[in-house]
Amino acid sequence: MLRLLFWLPFALVVLASSVASAAIVEHSFHVQNLTVRRLCSEQVVTAVNGSLPGPAIRVREGDTLIVHVFNKSPYNLTVHWHGVFQILSAWADGPNMITQCPIPPGGKYTYKFKLLQQEGTLWWHAHSSWLRATVYGALIIRPRSGHPYPFPKPDKEVPILLGEWWNANVLDVESQALATGGPPNISDAYTINGLPGDLYNCSENRIFKLKVQKGKTYLLRIINAALNNQLFFKIANHKMTVVAVDASYTVPYITDVVVTGPGQTVDVLLATDQEVGSYYMAANAYVSAAGVEFDNTTTRGIVVYEDAPTSVTPIMPLLPAFNDTPTAHKFFTNITGLAGGLTGFQSHGKSMSACL
Ligand SMILES: *[C@@H]1O[C@H](CO)[C@@H](O)[C@H](O)[C@H]1NC(C)=O
Ligand SMILES: *[C@@H]1O[C@H](CO)[C@@H](O)[C@H](O)[C@H]1NC(C)=O
Ligand SMILES: *[C@@H]1O[C@H](CO)[C@@H](O)[C@H](O)[C@H]1NC(C)=O
Ligand SMILES: *[C@@H]1O[C@H](CO)[C@@H](O)[C@H](O)[C@H]1NC(C)=O
Ligand SMILES: *[C@@H]1O[C@H](CO)[C@@H](O)[C@H](O)[C@H]1NC(C)=O
Ligand SMILES: *[C@@H]1O[C@H](CO)[C@@H](O)[C@H](O)[C@H]1NC(C)=O
Ligand SMILES: *[C@@H]1O[C@H](CO)[C@@H](O)[C@H](O)[C@H]1NC(C)=O
Repeated sequence: MLRLLFWLPFALVVLASSVASAAIVEHSFHVQNLTVRRLCSEQVVTAVNGSLPGPAIRVREGDTLIVHVFNKSPYNLTVHWHGVFQILSAWADGPNMITQCPIPPGGKYTYKFKLLQQEGTLWWHAHSSWLRATVYGALIIRPRSGHPYPFPKPDKEVPILLGEWWNANVLDVESQALATGGPPNISDAYTINGLPGDLYNCSENRIFKLKVQKGKTYLLRIINAALNNQLFFKIANHKMTVVAVDASYTVPYITDVVVTGPGQTVDVLLATDQEVGSYYMAANAYVSAAGVEFDNTTTRGIVVYEDAPTSVTPIMPLLPAFNDTPTAHKFFTNITGLAGGLTGFQSHGKSMSACL
């Protein structure tokens, strides 16, 4: 009895802290026209809160997310929370005309759901016509407070959103394809965090720069937000350790190339263990089907070490050929799930099968 009385307060504290750790995270999205200059021309796009990509949402596993979407764009649209389990909240999933009617121009809709039993990187995007080409952003789910990652804590976390860009209104590209019955026009560029990089005309200065310090570890949350293409992603001279895919932890897997399909995410640890300098990160298409037309351009950004000489040209990684299926196959088949990886979830005494 004495023992029980002694432990009871501790048990209550533990219980209270695990309950208190689930927060309500509330945001507003203002979807509206945005005029941006990419490649050699200006283009009006639809975007959230005037930024491309849109704002990153950060939550912890167990949190409730509330997002008020104000549609100030000229188009019907919805927002989809890509990869979220939506346990007992299927109506908040977002596919247009599947779980909801579109939000009309001038309308508002509130999404409310819990992030349960998954940790890592997911993303959100418009789920009506091709608007997701510019209406997208990261959804980052960290473990509950007090629960560590199943890998050494990184010094910094950086979302890397790979996108696809058209020198056109994407709705026109889509409707033209529907009207003619032909394949849609291929994109004019790929982007890293909204920027095509210096391999494209007029884009020398629109390049994503990641400033790093030597001897640190960075968690890159790589999201393939492209509409149509699988992509290879490499960083010159650096290896990456894959630790999660689609908000599921993996057995750490060391690789010099990441391969992702549209909609997929890959979390990697990047150790800045090379000589102080500048290194390109780059992405290009992986296309396995023969004879299809595709965007075969290359987007790149730069990883710049602190104190790197500015006069030196960054080192470029050697990218796989577009049809390098052995490399893609090796990457995909070598990824395995990490048993018991979801630390916070496990400590709540449930198993994954409980939600299937
Ligand atoms: C989006 O913009 C609105 C209006 O400026 C602002 O209130 C809101 O906090 C922004 N949302 C995010 C997620 O940054
Ligand atoms: C937004 O852009 C579309 C397409 O370019 C245009 O038709 C519409 O008038 C614009 N709306 C506003 C409010 O600027
Ligand atoms: C917008 O959605 C409504 C249904 O909610 C539909 O009646 C209307 O035709 C749609 N408008 C366009 C331009 O697709
Ligand atoms: C699609 O590509 C063709 C050929 O380059 C071009 O003439 C047409 O304007 C493009 N369509 C759109 C909607 O950009
Ligand atoms: C850049 O412009 C030149 C000249 O117009 C053209 O030949 C080349 O294909 C363009 N490069 C890209 C990547 O668009
Ligand atoms: C990309 O495609 C163009 C034609 O669409 C072709 O001329 C060029 O050789 C291709 N480049 C690569 C690297 O495959
Ligand atoms: C997986 O990686 C190992 C090396 O880590 C390699 O030997 C093996 O061939 C790879 N699997 C495939 C299917 O390529």
